[in-house]
Amino acid sequence: MTGSGHRGQDPHSGERATDDDVQPNHGGHDTALVAVWPLLGLRLATARLELAVPTSADLADLFDAAAAIQPPGQARFQQSFLYASSPERERGLLQRHWRALAHWRPDSWDLHLAIRLDGTAIGVQSMWATDFAITRTVETGSWIGLAHQGRGYGTEARMAVLELAFTHLGAAEARTAYVAGNLASEAVSRKLGYQDNGHKVSAQDGERLVQHLMAIDAATWKRRSRGPVEVTGLTRCLDLFGVAAGS
Ligand SMILES: CC(C)(COP(=O)(O)OP(=O)(O)OC[C@H]1O[C@@H](n2cnc3c(N)ncnc32)[C@H](O)[C@@H]1OP(=O)(O)O)[C@@H](O)C(=O)NCCC(=O)NCCS
Repeated sequence: MTGSGHRGQDPHSGERATDDDVQPNHGGHDTALVAVWPLLGLRLATARLELAVPTSADLADLFDAAAAIQPPGQARFQQSFLYASSPERERGLLQRHWRALAHWRPDSWDLHLAIRLDGTAIGVQSMWATDFAITRTVETGSWIGLAHQGRGYGTEARMAVLELAFTHLGAAEARTAYVAGNLASEAVSRKLGYQDNGHKVSAQDGERLVQHLMAIDAATWKRRSRGPVEVTGLTRCLDLFGVAAGS
């Protein structure tokens, strides 16, 4: 199942028609690099946001956005480097970005996308999978700078990657987890139609961490009304996602 194969065919889909091969600019990525590593040319556009692999300029924006992500009184997000002091926080963010690219394999990938609002990166939306060609299952995680939280951007960014997963990559299921008490994260998942799917307990930074699991399947996603998501630059990336063109 490819982006081009589904253009305009699903009356319930929020996706816009796209021309996968037309990319007037690469959003700051070097054209020669995009030719070799086409993920750098992948773009998801919603009504208000653009999601793309971060450029150097995006990473600099993200240093600012990551300085404050935690609403008062809310449980902490899982990625502890985001709570470190500067410059460890920024270094952790860079390494998270580089690791996602450096460790990418078609059978184990991690799409780590900057969320841009009016050209400025305000947060990160990730989607990852192991053996996607077989499991057809993705997982997601995200953060948004505190100054931009509570305006629907987190929901819009998650919707964008779910649309990529279900409509363009042929996912069967998407999963997510929220730390007990992370009400905003839970609310985003419920708004998008996820259902409870158990919990897991682990140790993090010497503490007991309870994560509530949620899942949504392709049939549920297709039934739900959702906003427009324009996907460009995907066709050349399909093999990197472990998806054969036309499958
Ligand atoms: C989770 C996060 C990405 C959501 O982004 P966002 O842009 O704030 O999300 P949205 O505005 O789309 O939706 C947030 C929802 O949570 C609800 N919410 C926020 N705080 C809440 C609280 N304390 N109690 C109940 N609901 C709350 C909002 O009301 C909103 O729901 P609504 O639209 O039905 O009113 C963002 O809050 C964040 O970055 N948090 C810190 C990092 C984190 O926890 N990441 C998730 C880890 S899985």
